Amino acid sequence: MALLQVAQASVTLGGVDILQQVSIEVQPQSIVTILGANGAGKTSLLRAISGIYPLQGGSIRFAGQEIGNRAPHDIVRLGLSHAPEGRQIFSNMTVQENLRLGAIHRRVKAAELDFIHDIFPLLAQRSKQLAGTLSGGEQQMLCIGRALMAQPQLLILDEPSLGLAPQFVQQIFKVIDTIRQHGLTVLLVEQNARSALRIADYGYVLEHGRISLSGPAQQLASDERVQNAYLGAGHEAAAVAG
Ligand SMILES: Nc1ncnc2c1ncn2[C@@H]1O[C@H](COP(=O)(O)OP(=O)(O)O)[C@@H](O)[C@H]1O
Ligand SMILES: [Mg+2]
Repeated sequence: MALLQVAQASVTLGGVDILQQVSIEVQPQSIVTILGANGAGKTSLLRAISGIYPLQGGSIRFAGQEIGNRAPHDIVRLGLSHAPEGRQIFSNMTVQENLRLGAIHRRVKAAELDFIHDIFPLLAQRSKQLAGTLSGGEQQMLCIGRALMAQPQLLILDEPSLGLAPQFVQQIFKVIDTIRQHGLTVLLVEQNARSALRIADYGYVLEHGRISLSGPAQQLASDERVQNAYLGAGHEAAAVAG
């Protein structure tokens, strides 16, 4: 049974149809990626799943329960945690304070912080530092670490590598793989389609609020339409030909 099942989900905001009958499935302990151009509706889909945007139609089931239109904090408690686009950490709080906020009203046991610190040794070293003084890549690590503090079954990541230096981009993808090895399931939105398809098991392409293509990640990576639109293959071929 799928851990997450979005069926025919539609979202309308300000009278505009943002998502139209979107269906996706995420199997337990898999990595599923959603590709799509800017403005395709990727963030809106993640927000609908997390309860931030209302659903006009369709259903969202997580771990066997309907979660469509439930309150975001209820959804987090059920085991679905969302590291948002743009990181949104609290700059004037320390690294450790930011992490504790992710625990949503639970007392945090030392072992939980150890788990986060194992994945992100840097956050242990910087635990007393103000989050706003971290580099962009470090802030992204903190954002993911904070989401993990909710002890989710499903981790949603919205463009974790956006705007990061290349060495951080590779680190982020390594971390995502490590997280899966710990038994978590990951739903990943990424502009870096090549790296996303490399670590994902399955992928979907979202275009103008609709799913236009889906398949096993390797199959998508070799699909001409995906290559032309998202992997820059046409561009590279043209450069070679030129
Ligand atoms: N709160 C909102 N109100 C109105 N329109 C929105 C809102 N959020 C997103 N949109 C619109 O929905 C479309 C998809 O946006 P978004 O989900 O952020 O795309 P992506 O993450 O794929 O870049 C865009 O046209 C955007 O302007
Ligand atoms: Mg987005």
